[in-house]
Amino acid sequence: MDSIWIRGGKTLKGEIPISGAKNAALTLLPCALLTEEKLTLTNLPRLADVDTFAHLLNQLGVSTHVAGVKKGEIGRRMTLQADEIVSTVAPYDMVRKMRASVLVLGPMLARMGESTVSLPGGCAIGDRPIDLHLKALEAMGAEIELAAGYVKAVAPKGRLDGGDFSFPVVSVGATENAVMAAVLAKGKTQLFNAAREPEIVDLCNLLVAMGAKIEGIGSGHLIIEGVEGLHGATYEVMPDRIEAGSYACAAGITGGSLHLLGVRPEEMLATTNVLAQAGLAIEFTDKGMKVSAHQPLRPVAVSTAPFPGFATDMQAQLMAMLCVAEGQSFLEETIFENRYMHVPELRRMGADVEVHGRSAIVHGPKPLTGASVMATDLRASMSLVLAGLAAEGETEVLRVYHLDRGYERLEEKLSAVGATIERRSAG
Ligand code: UD1
Repeated sequence: MDSIWIRGGKTLKGEIPISGAKNAALTLLPCALLTEEKLTLTNLPRLADVDTFAHLLNQLGVSTHVAGVKKGEIGRRMTLQADEIVSTVAPYDMVRKMRASVLVLGPMLARMGESTVSLPGGCAIGDRPIDLHLKALEAMGAEIELAAGYVKAVAPKGRLDGGDFSFPVVSVGATENAVMAAVLAKGKTQLFNAAREPEIVDLCNLLVAMGAKIEGIGSGHLIIEGVEGLHGATYEVMPDRIEAGSYACAAGITGGSLHLLGVRPEEMLATTNVLAQAGLAIEFTDKGMKVSAHQPLRPVAVSTAPFPGFATDMQAQLMAMLCVAEGQSFLEETIFENRYMHVPELRRMGADVEVHGRSAIVHGPKPLTGASVMATDLRASMSLVLAGLAAEGETEVLRVYHLDRGYERLEEKLSAVGATIERRSAG
């Protein structure tokens, strides 16, 4: 199995192009199920999760075609077409590999009047139920049955009806499934306390480009007037704000200066506010965002929260950076119950972090030293890469498949700005 090998201690300087957003791609891809016409996505990141999603769509009858990029385009261009849906079942072996597979539930139900998806079960960062996905669909008239580890949703009249639903907890995935279902429902749907993440704005913008009628985009109150059918579109995936935030922490932890190309300021503010409090200089430019560390890092106190709050997907990377800040930092994880799995590994590299339930105290500054480490999820793995960049000596991050799920050309991007990092194959 491959690993990422790093010799730490280099100050990173230069430009890093930011790829298309993984989490946006994973909700834009299933929109292909909503129309017989072609959907072309550009700026798609080359990531394992995107490939896995494309395979799932292939199994359902969607053709996927990766074409060369056109002049002025970045990332990868994929054309998807679901002129005929051959199966309405997302099997366990796909959902098990990637939880986001559950995002075919809403669009398939809307288009075909039925959809069967394996229940994802728990995962490393917590229980992660999908009850809210199901309740939102029930509010649109879906009848739901759970059997043998699968959820089967049926629209009894062949088409969903519009309906109102208020999310008791903000959920990104449940909002996405509900929006994708509501665009083809008969009549009006109102979603209250909907997630406002930029990836949901991206989803709504694509759906509008396909002919959907959605008001309140970017707010917690989405009003969707169902239409009879949607048409094809060509759409550019938004830049990955979590990848950008991760590289901003790389600038911080190595005392460097990085220009992150393609970043959109308005999507970064929760991260940049915290990084600025930690002493990083942030400058938005016409090409993206410059992040520079000119002084010792300062400690911060941060709670994760739904957008526009500080993203849970940035917590592990921020923690790695705070290990070298001068003083005690406080982190609170409010979204997932088990999202400190990077802590024991960071401790093995010399970090001093206490965990009390959902809170963590980082005692800095501590000199980090290289070690062989592994993590059980994507962002935790990235926090170990960041620690490795600042550590004295060599670090080997095992289980690279986690990183390949969400960081495009990681070692290439970091080498280009001065890191000593490479992928090593164990075989
Ligand atoms: C998405 C992101 C993930 C990010 C998370 C929170 C994708 C592919 N993944 O995950 O990277 O960390 O948002 O920003 O976009 N919940 C329920 N019932 C449900 C659904 C969720 O109780 O039916 C709870 C979850 O357990 C969690 C909270 O709601 O505590 C938020 O989860 P949610 O926003 O749904 O996360 P995902 O969409 O799975």
